[in-house]
Amino acid sequence: MYTINWADLTPETFMKEYWQKKPLLIKRGFEDFQDPISADELAGLAMEQELESRIIKHNNFDNWQVEHGPFEDFSKFGEQDWTLLVQAVNNWSETTSALISPFKFLPNWRIDDVMVSFSTPNGGVGAHLDQYDVFIIQGEGKRHWQVGLPDNTLEQLLPHEDLKQVSPFTPLIDEITEPGDILYIPPNHPHNGVAIENSLNYSVGFQAPNGQELVSALADTMIDKCLAENRFGDSERTPTETPELLAAKDIKALQSFMIESASDLDVFSDMVASFTTRSHHTLELLVPVEPFNEEAVIGYLNDPEIFVRPVLGIKALINEQNGDFYINGDRVAITDTTRELASILAKNEPLTTDRLKSFTDCLINVQMLTSVLNMGYWYID
Ligand code: SIN
Ligand code: CO
Repeated sequence: MYTINWADLTPETFMKEYWQKKPLLIKRGFEDFQDPISADELAGLAMEQELESRIIKHNNFDNWQVEHGPFEDFSKFGEQDWTLLVQAVNNWSETTSALISPFKFLPNWRIDDVMVSFSTPNGGVGAHLDQYDVFIIQGEGKRHWQVGLPDNTLEQLLPHEDLKQVSPFTPLIDEITEPGDILYIPPNHPHNGVAIENSLNYSVGFQAPNGQELVSALADTMIDKCLAENRFGDSERTPTETPELLAAKDIKALQSFMIESASDLDVFSDMVASFTTRSHHTLELLVPVEPFNEEAVIGYLNDPEIFVRPVLGIKALINEQNGDFYINGDRVAITDTTRELASILAKNEPLTTDRLKSFTDCLINVQMLTSVLNMGYWYID
């Protein structure tokens, strides 16, 4: 269980003063920090096909090389000047996924994944910008971190085709991080971490759709659901003397027509809830070989030794607009009776059968639980 030691801040003051505004280093943000994964275990994950991993190496901060995993052997990289980065480790390591909970003062739909890096002395990815907010936690070892402010005059560099960097920047934060330190970096703030000794870093990363992604997802939804098939009409038109004109008022009417067909909040909220709960990384879904039926689920729930757990990395939420439960891009319709259980499931925390007991009297709650188990999003342990 990780808890943030906010010192003289609170989640409220952090959100007001720093979130998306200013970088911040919280020294010993996690008191007595225990690494959720070891460098060896991380190397083991980087040998797996399902995980996205890369190694970045340099020669005296020049001649940058990038190799993509899966890796078979790390010995050729030597003792220093390289870093291994593994995406979405929270989808495979339960202990790493526990690093997300302390950031639940932000909603599920904003959270993306936990990327873990192992760096040898002088290892790092170089000065760069990211488009998303991130909290970088220092695990074992020490690293020299510099973070600056957004600066349009920084030069974009491409020292390797897979590695974007920026020219040197003026640091606002220039510190050596130690185990348990938490560094918050808002989007587009240049930053650079250089390991001083073998070092593990955990990046709790956030997601935010851009306008283009939303327009494209909304257009797909409207087309799939045949929601934009009505045609523009102009029964109030008067004769024109300038037929060559696409008149300004026609342009406005066409735009209003289009905005109106796209402005249905139920359609939009359904699209956005599916969109934000879809994982960007491989998940290990646990679809049962034989689907469960309700009696079997009730049987399991009678056993106090059993846990019902969400698959690691699964994203879920309740859509406040339509009240429905969304999990991994799927919509599960909710009624007054199933609302409480859906809210519990959307928190994505393992549940004891004892916790679920009060819901088993009601068949439609059991049916909902059965369907998330059969979709492979939750499992019985
Ligand atoms: C890391 O090296 O652990 C984080 C890389 C980054 O700054 O994005
Ligand atoms: Co970064």
